[in-house]
Parts: sequence; C-alpha cells; structure tokens
Amino acid sequence: MSHNIAIDGPAGAGKSTIAKKIAQKLNYIYVDTGAMYRAMALFLLRQGIRPDETEKIDVTCEKADITIRYENGEQVVLLNGENVNGLIRTEEVSRMASGSSANPRVRTKLVKLQQELAAKENVVMDGRDIGTCVLPNAAVKVYLTADVSVRAKRRFDELTAKGENCNLAEIEADIQKRDHQDMTREISPLIQAEDARLIDTSHMTIEEAAQAVIALC
Ligand code: DC
Repeated sequence: MSHNIAIDGPAGAGKSTIAKKIAQKLNYIYVDTGAMYRAMALFLLRQGIRPDETEKIDVTCEKADITIRYENGEQVVLLNGENVNGLIRTEEVSRMASGSSANPRVRTKLVKLQQELAAKENVVMDGRDIGTCVLPNAAVKVYLTADVSVRAKRRFDELTAKGENCNLAEIEADIQKRDHQDMTREISPLIQAEDARLIDTSHMTIEEAAQAVIALC
C-alpha cells in the first residue's frame, strides 16, 4: 500500500514549495491538486463561462480531459492533451478556479484522478480537501497556514520578482476573498481535518516548515 502525505491550507501558505521539498527529500511524487482545478478553470474561461454559471459548468466540465504526467520530476498538467502549466498561474485563472471548484461535478472528476494517483504511488499531495476528503486515511496530515498579510507579501514578492506590476493591498483582498470562498462552500470546504497537525509558517523558513512536516512522518 502506498504511503501518503496530505497537506491542506489556504492560498499562499507555502504548501506547494514545502510539499515539493518534502517529496524530493522522501523521494515521493508531488501532486499539486490546485493545478488540476486551475486547468479546469482555464478550460471554462476559454468557453466564455463565468464562475457563477453553475449549469453551464455542469455540462462543460465533462468535456475537459485533465491528466498529469511528470517531466524531469515536475508535474505537467494536460488539458485535452495540451500542456497548460504556463497558462494557469494568472489572477484570472485563480479567481475562476476558486469559483468553479465549488461545483460538485468538477470535484468528483478531479478527486477520482487524485485518488487513483495516490493509490499507485507514495505521494505528497497538496490542496484544500486532501486530509478531509481525498485521502482520509493519509499517513500524515498537515494543515499549513500563515497570517494573511504574510501570505499576501509572499505573493507580492513572487510577482515583483517576475517583473509584474502589482499592488499589495489588492493581492491581500484577493486572497481574503478566495479564502472565504474556499472555506464556506458547501462541498469539501477548506477546514483542518480533526487529525491534521497545524503548522503556522508566518515566522518559519521553507526549510523549517519542511523539516516540521518530515518530523511527523
Ligand atoms: O492551491 P491553488 O491556489 O492552486 O488552488 C486554486 C483553487 O482551486 C483554490 O482557490 C481552490 C481550488 N482547490 C480546491 O478546491 N481543492 C483542492 N484540493 C485544490 C484547489
């Protein structure tokens, strides 16, 4: 049986950076489930659908074939065969993903894919509902968080380093809105699983946070 590590938490808590590091150290496969919801969001945006058009999302999401593969240890998300890694990190896609991921059909489709992956391989999987829904029997569960101001500043630094013009207050407001949506939706909202360990990374380095998770393994 595979050994799985579930990492959940709000946007910008450092989940993916930390999960990648842990996967490298333990020689596990890193699965970024947010990227799958983002690929679905990109597909819906391309069809001209808005996050609140539930019925259209119900029908249209069935036409998206989302799979992942690994190239040089990196997760590549394929949307109907197209590598969309370079297209899913925009603010527009972030917003749509937060909205469309509340849709039950979207979730059923992607959760199945995630569970199949975790059954085959030892994975470090990050997302919002991994410890609560996708892998309720994961060997290790972590709820990773940080103050919203710290998360916004990290995102701001990341975008600024890429040469993008951005506004810290706007980023913080956006993160707060997404947190609220992800935490209050009806299906699989973001909450700390009862048996998950809470790690607040506000005052931690990536390395310290990764070590804290590895210590739980
Ligand atoms: O982790 P991320 O920011 O890339 O995720 C994008 C959106 O996808 C997030 O706002 C909520 C949704 N998501 C989800 O509902 N369940 C997951 N397991 C992962 C992401």
